[in-house]
Amino acid sequence: METFAVQPRDMTCHTLLYAAHQAFRRDLDRLGAAAAAGKGRASHVRAGWENLKEQLRLHQELEDGWLWPRVERAVAGRRAERAVLEEIRAEHARLVPLIARVDAAMDAAMDAAGQGGDLPAAVRELREALERHLLHEEMSALPLAESVLTGAEWRALAAQARDRCEAGTPLFVPWVVDGIGPVERSRFLTALPRPLRELNRVMWEPRYRKRRLWSI
Ligand SMILES: [Fe+2]
Repeated sequence: METFAVQPRDMTCHTLLYAAHQAFRRDLDRLGAAAAAGKGRASHVRAGWENLKEQLRLHQELEDGWLWPRVERAVAGRRAERAVLEEIRAEHARLVPLIARVDAAMDAAMDAAGQGGDLPAAVRELREALERHLLHEEMSALPLAESVLTGAEWRALAAQARDRCEAGTPLFVPWVVDGIGPVERSRFLTALPRPLRELNRVMWEPRYRKRRLWSI
């Protein structure tokens, strides 16, 4: 089977990690707009939020369970680099109560027949914290990972992600390309192995569109 690994350091990192970061930002902006418009209880908004949480969970699982431990091993004894990774893990943990706060505000909005509660504030707080975290990864942790991991390790990371797409998380690809420009879309899809690209075209993307996430 083909793999992601034509240019592992560039393709894998960009495709799997940076592109997901952009999708997190996009979805939280959508949630913020819906909350500001008092549409926090709309069922497709709720479904979009549930999918966003799941994508975030899977992304962090891949980073915390696979990526960061390998980077930590590679930088053993280098205090400054290890400190960056500790900060990244702490930031992941700090997102948990902020996500719970959005959940709670969304439930309150539903109880109050769409009054909104403090959902806009909760989303804003999460968006700001997530932005700081994503920038930290993009400016420090991911370049560090790119500098110390081998091509074989990136290929293994890509294989993990590919298996997840085929087995349990088929919404990842259509979710990433949802609403992005034609050039970025083409670049992302071209970086995928052909079988995944076909699966996305005939099955994943139609299925994703049918869910109409975020429509209000
Ligand atoms: Fe990340």
